[in-house]
Amino acid sequence: MKALVYGGPGKKSWEEKPKPTLQHPADAIVRISRTTICGTDLHILKGDVPEVTPGRILGHEGVGIVEETGAQVGNFEKGDHVLISCITSCAQCEYCKKGMYSHCLNGGWILGHLIDGTQAEYVRIPYADNSLYRIPEGMDEEALVMLSDILPTGFECGVLNGQIKPGDTVAIIGAGPVGLAALLTAQFFTPAEIIMIDLDANRLEVSKKFGATQTINSSSEKVVEKIMQLTGNKGVDTAIEAVGVPATFELCQSIIAPGGRIANIGVHGKSVELHLETLWSRNVTITTRLVDTVTTPMLLRTVASKKLNPSLLITHRFQLPEIVRAYEVFAQAGKEKTLKVILINE
Ligand SMILES: NC(=O)c1ccc[n+]([C@@H]2O[C@H](COP(=O)([O-])OP(=O)(O)OC[C@H]3O[C@@H](n4cnc5c(N)ncnc54)[C@H](O)[C@@H]3O)[C@@H](O)[C@H]2O)c1
Ligand SMILES: [Zn+2]
Ligand SMILES: [Zn+2]
Repeated sequence: MKALVYGGPGKKSWEEKPKPTLQHPADAIVRISRTTICGTDLHILKGDVPEVTPGRILGHEGVGIVEETGAQVGNFEKGDHVLISCITSCAQCEYCKKGMYSHCLNGGWILGHLIDGTQAEYVRIPYADNSLYRIPEGMDEEALVMLSDILPTGFECGVLNGQIKPGDTVAIIGAGPVGLAALLTAQFFTPAEIIMIDLDANRLEVSKKFGATQTINSSSEKVVEKIMQLTGNKGVDTAIEAVGVPATFELCQSIIAPGGRIANIGVHGKSVELHLETLWSRNVTITTRLVDTVTTPMLLRTVASKKLNPSLLITHRFQLPEIVRAYEVFAQAGKEKTLKVILINE
């Protein structure tokens, strides 16, 4: 089969690889029908994730058709249409039993990281019963690719950890696919205001279409002043960090109202200053989380009932063999106005 193979920092190629085979009775082999590229794949290509070794097939998102199942797989059989979770869960270890699939002692985030991933014609999925989700008949499979990673990430790490309630004022810093996923799912809880902050004017325009009540361009506007103006000098009830740099986490600390929640989503590579000299008395909560994908079944139902439309995030489509070009378009998000790209394996 053909696959997108990591060749070390800065190197990737679309090349021939052996088709995966069952390695364990709980495995399934899935023929990919749609996959996508994540910002994390760009981090890997920069060399930021050294556990990924040359020769690894990248990708941790996608949908497909079950091709083969091991003897222990009870929930799926050949021909089933499935959504692949970016998180592999054994459902048996201590962390899985607490609903923290991301910390599964036998899985977690391994696809396109520690084992071969989904940017290929076929993929092997360990613990298939707990790591795949059945796609109901008649559903738009492209929209569901957004449920492999970014929708549960925005929802679990941002919206749920940020404890958004009706009438709240929310700020989301970063209007990339993950910040926009938080924007879409925050609306389940009907906050009064959702303020989106980014440097990219196009992404802020998109945010307005997705339900933002205010946008602030932090390259040209004074964010703290504007937020204090919009909130009667109180600050926001929930600040969601969806970028992953020190400046944006510090911004969350400057705009949080007493009793507020700072929910970090961003992957951080540098330490950030914690301003306890101002926060100690403000009853704030700070949360961090790696996406668990425990909300995937719930999100699937909201898409099926048309309460949530994640296909809004798809801006480009390519055939799977054009994936190297798709990476270029995805990496130049500012110029190409890219959010998510869909790769089609016909
Ligand atoms: N916690 C998790 O489980 C988890 C899972 C997936 C992704 N992530 C992380 O979530 C973050 C967002 O992912 P994404 O795919 O949307 O990334 P992205 O790079 O597409 O989006 C980030 C956005 O932040 C904006 N930005 C950059 N610097 C800024 C600044 N100083 N002020 C305001 N905006 C700024 C960019 O213009 C961009 O629109 C990343 O750090 C990613 O690694 C975390
Ligand atoms: Zn991802
Ligand atoms: Zn487990």
